[in-house]
Amino acid sequence: MQLEGKRIIVTGVASGIGAGTLRAYVREGATVTGLDIADQAGEKIVAEANAERPGRAHYRHCDISAPEQVFSAFDAAARAMGGIDVLSWTRTIAYEWASKYNIRCNCVNPTIKTPMYQQYLDSLDAEALAQHLASEKRQVPLGGSMGDVDRDMAPVMVFLASDASRFINGQIICVNGGRNMLRG
Ligand SMILES: NC(=O)c1ccc[n+]([C@@H]2O[C@H](COP(=O)([O-])OP(=O)(O)OC[C@H]3O[C@@H](n4cnc5c(N)ncnc54)[C@H](O)[C@@H]3O)[C@@H](O)[C@H]2O)c1
Repeated sequence: MQLEGKRIIVTGVASGIGAGTLRAYVREGATVTGLDIADQAGEKIVAEANAERPGRAHYRHCDISAPEQVFSAFDAAARAMGGIDVLSWTRTIAYEWASKYNIRCNCVNPTIKTPMYQQYLDSLDAEALAQHLASEKRQVPLGGSMGDVDRDMAPVMVFLASDASRFINGQIICVNGGRNMLRG
């Protein structure tokens, strides 16, 4: 288990990347607090992850656009888990927090199939959809389409939360099949 003993907060756990990340963290033995505003879906993802074990997850309502909710959710999560081991933000913080507190800060830039992406596809008419899929095929050298949350994204999130990435800090990790190498 790569995340045994780690205490982690994951935002947006009710769907897509957040849900896949929470599932993978629990599978790797972490204790996770999952935040979202879609409470019913969030509780369901957390219950499914707990059924798989060996880690443990808790769900908490938090609108991350409301600072007071973020502060109180983080306080409550830190109290419930006995601390927090994983969190991230900007490159300035990556430098300052690393030298002051030994906290690493990294960013992931994804190209991943999720309900958000599906909603976008559903909004296109047949011609626009065909054009979009053709351009995706050209733009993504690995496989010609968006990646999968569980196979392509979650393992990278596990790696970044684990001690295996202890010397990686202030980086943008592109999980996009090489999409940024090409345009058009
Ligand atoms: N999927 C991609 O390839 C991709 C690419 C670039 C950026 N992103 C970003 O990554 C994030 C996750 O994307 P996804 O594709 O998994 O989307 P998603 O729609 O599948 O999931 C987003 C989750 O965030 C929750 N959420 C929305 N507003 C919130 C708020 N104010 N407070 C707390 N939770 C909130 C939603 O309820 C939902 O559960 C988004 O910010 C998205 O813009 C995704």
